[in-house]
Amino acid sequence: MLELLVYIFLLFMILLVFGTAAYAGMRASPWVPVFKRDIERVLKLADVKDNDMVYDLGSGDGRIVIAIAHNSQASVVGFEISFLPYLWSKLKILFLGLPQRVEVRFGDFLSRDLSQASVIFCFLTPMAMKKLSPKFRKELKKGTRIISYSFKIPDWEPTMIDRLDKRMSIYKYVVD
Ligand SMILES: C[S@@+](CC[C@H](N)C(=O)[O-])C[C@H]1O[C@@H](n2cnc3c(N)ncnc32)[C@H](O)[C@@H]1O
Repeated sequence: MLELLVYIFLLFMILLVFGTAAYAGMRASPWVPVFKRDIERVLKLADVKDNDMVYDLGSGDGRIVIAIAHNSQASVVGFEISFLPYLWSKLKILFLGLPQRVEVRFGDFLSRDLSQASVIFCFLTPMAMKKLSPKFRKELKKGTRIISYSFKIPDWEPTMIDRLDKRMSIYKYVVD
């Protein structure tokens, strides 16, 4: 009986890990972490202030959420739908003893209201940016900064581009 329960639990975990990873890939993007060497560039472009509310759409292992938390007093929320990176980021936040203003929520950012954000970070895919473009227009307030690693928002004009030779470009948009 115990053996059967262990098998059922393992099967459930495998389905959870691979199922949610596949769903994330289909919905917006697979888990590919931002290069560690580029985090500093992201922070510089985002220029997060202590009173900001930062959302990382698809927060992966939480490296951007954690970097922002270490560099400011801002509130930071990551949304992640793939179970393994979600769990890993939760454990990292717990072990680092980060304050309550830093959190990762399990769920689909495409079905969340983004209107509370003053800064948005995303590293997704062209398909996801296409889906997000009308959502950004509808929900984000004027002045919200969007930092997109590697991919442009279609039909939007970036206010700044950080380009480096042989490195990913990073785009900054300000909602008008
Ligand atoms: C390219 S990774 C970027 C991870 C992290 N932001 C970073 O820069 O290291 C994109 C992440 O978005 C997650 N994701 C994809 N679609 C999602 C959705 N609809 N809601 C929440 N997370 C999603 C994926 O599981 C993946 O971890």
